[in-house]
Amino acid sequence: MRQSELEALLKDMSLQEKADQLLQLNGTFYTGELDEIATGPIMEMGLKSEDICQAGSILGTYGAERLKEIQKKYMEKQPHHIPMLFMMDVIHGMKTIFPMPLAMGAAFDPSVAYTAAEIAAKEASVSGLHVTFSPMADLVRDARWGRVMESTGEDAYMNSLYTAAQVKGFQGDSGNLREKYKVASCVKHFAAYGGAEAGRDYNTVELSEQTLREYYLRSYQAGIDAGVALVMTSFNTVNGVPASVNTWLMREVLRKEMGFEGVLISDYAAIEETICHGVSEDKADAAEKALKAGVDIDMMTSCYSGHLAGLIRGGKLEEGILDEAVMRVLQLKNKLGLFENPYKDADPEEEKRWILCEEHRKAARDAACKTFVLLKNERDSDGTALLPLKKGKRTAFIGPYVENQELLSSWAVTGSKEDCVTIRNAAEAVLGEEAVFACGCPIFGNDMEIPSFNGNIRCDVSEAERKGMLEDALKKASEAEQVVLCLGEHSAQSGEAASRTMLDIPEIQMELFREIYRVNQNIVVVLFSGRPLDLREISRKARTVLEVWFPGTEGGNAILDVLTGVQSPSGKLPMSFPYCVAQEPLHYDHYNTGRPNPNGRVEKFRSRYLDAPNEPLYPFGYGLTYTEFSLSEVRLDREQMEADGMIAASVIMKNEGTVFGTETAQMYIRDLTASVVRPVRQLKGIQKVSLMPGESRTVSFEITREQLQFMASDGKEVLESGRFAVYIGTDSTTENCAEFVLI
Ligand code: GLC
Repeated sequence: MRQSELEALLKDMSLQEKADQLLQLNGTFYTGELDEIATGPIMEMGLKSEDICQAGSILGTYGAERLKEIQKKYMEKQPHHIPMLFMMDVIHGMKTIFPMPLAMGAAFDPSVAYTAAEIAAKEASVSGLHVTFSPMADLVRDARWGRVMESTGEDAYMNSLYTAAQVKGFQGDSGNLREKYKVASCVKHFAAYGGAEAGRDYNTVELSEQTLREYYLRSYQAGIDAGVALVMTSFNTVNGVPASVNTWLMREVLRKEMGFEGVLISDYAAIEETICHGVSEDKADAAEKALKAGVDIDMMTSCYSGHLAGLIRGGKLEEGILDEAVMRVLQLKNKLGLFENPYKDADPEEEKRWILCEEHRKAARDAACKTFVLLKNERDSDGTALLPLKKGKRTAFIGPYVENQELLSSWAVTGSKEDCVTIRNAAEAVLGEEAVFACGCPIFGNDMEIPSFNGNIRCDVSEAERKGMLEDALKKASEAEQVVLCLGEHSAQSGEAASRTMLDIPEIQMELFREIYRVNQNIVVVLFSGRPLDLREISRKARTVLEVWFPGTEGGNAILDVLTGVQSPSGKLPMSFPYCVAQEPLHYDHYNTGRPNPNGRVEKFRSRYLDAPNEPLYPFGYGLTYTEFSLSEVRLDREQMEADGMIAASVIMKNEGTVFGTETAQMYIRDLTASVVRPVRQLKGIQKVSLMPGESRTVSFEITREQLQFMASDGKEVLESGRFAVYIGTDSTTENCAEFVLI
């Protein structure tokens, strides 16, 4: 449709019809009979069957046949036959599930996330979907927050690269949403949802405007610059005002300063929740405030559909402000081509052809291999490390994750664990008789109960069963030359509404670890987690530790690929792993303070703890390979740089080991003196380099004003002359450094 046709359509719509275009309901309301629905939950929401028939979009339902039926049935009932939008949380895969986003951040390679998004878009679009509520662009600094698993980590620069890559993966490089196999992307949660106090989900966010702009807004800006079609509001307050009714945040910052022109959708019931926050009197007041703030779609409440028409008739709202929101929704439908083809790519035959096809499974397996982080791989007295596993040695795979198919993360709502390849499946195929298996214990004890999307999860194992599991595991461990111990959090222990005050592995698993350690100390721990954990005891005792996060559908195959050396580990930590939970929030790009206490110097009047170090157990950017790399000192091609000039910083990287490997050179910059305090270092460049044994290569980074300027609290980027330090290393603690002066 041309814009003029959209305007004519809008002009012809009734007030209620316009308000209902901004209503988003759950798809389950559309899969039953209209009458029973209208008298059921819909009535509780204060909606009428007219509202259901005129709703602009639905969420949470997929499947080509089902969505085609809904579209056909409800377009006929819509007075102007306006097509619906179908939206879904396709976060890291549709049916072929890729590693969770924090794991993809560990690849230090945005192309991994691009590929994952591209494949997810293909499977989602043939399943009838038009929009995905992804990527989450929130900066995270507190591992207690369950949704760190859905982010790409603690660094604003890295999150910006990943957000842009995912938007392009979902929407296509051209951004033409009419293209086949593309879906509209939605960057979320605007803004600073990851800054929840104490890591408790939905909690208050208190940030200075300078911190908000310098660290938290950058990745959303990257999504907007990549052409993202939608932005979703966050549940939290910003400067004391809930985001969904925050006119400064949405109209001044998001629309005017950041240039976002697409559809702004609330998070789930977030508009109505402003009553609970205490800034809206009732649903009508919430609707008025949210529309004035510029929120276009009201997810899963009746604030808009139940009150906008009345507010306009009563003169409390201008009809123009409603028209502005409705037009953005109509324009999104038009960008997707829905007026010409309301079913877009929905096609049952295409679903059969693409969903979980070998090509997609292979891509998911390759991606997973790049996300694993080798935290430790200690050599014994004759210089041999346990990984990669040596052929001909008897290996006991032990632990609750040996046969567990729950490898998908709690945000893989469209995936099926039944499609997952377990560690046992893969080990039997690759190692045959050399591998034996035992669960050893349940994933957590009878004392725990964890809520999840599908109800509460409990483990109910009798004392006799547990004794038998342990005895079987101990016998196999004592007869094996090495043990691969597969441990970790339950996937429901991270994700939305899954914050934790402890970062431990369930105690029943730690008891198994200690028992196994008694009979065999050649232990490789393969660790499943949705967040950084407190690994002090495991790191002390295990010879090898491999973090595999929640690796997705092909997790078992990818883990065996890395354990056996078919693929070398190359992942790097996208979040600091703390010495203990009390250090949280913890991030590498912290300020120096006036009394720093680097590397645990013991002086009283310093910024330090009496009972723990300041430093993490494993730092941001850290990860080992199966070989060793050396880096030369940092070379700069000049010592001074003009504001619009450039400096080249380089190192020579060499593979000093005997096997192939991939290392990630990381460039950090520190502004040594500025008008506001600047972090002790900030990541400004990454380069992954694969080298054969003995091979070396020069790795260069360009430094321009872009890497040196920072956001002042008025929202303007500033560049200040003075001394800068450039660090190039293989993690964020490198002291390999050179200085230059910006004149
Ligand atoms: C949830 C999440 C959001 C998700 C939305 C729809 O509460 O906060 O990330 O996209 O609701 O499921």
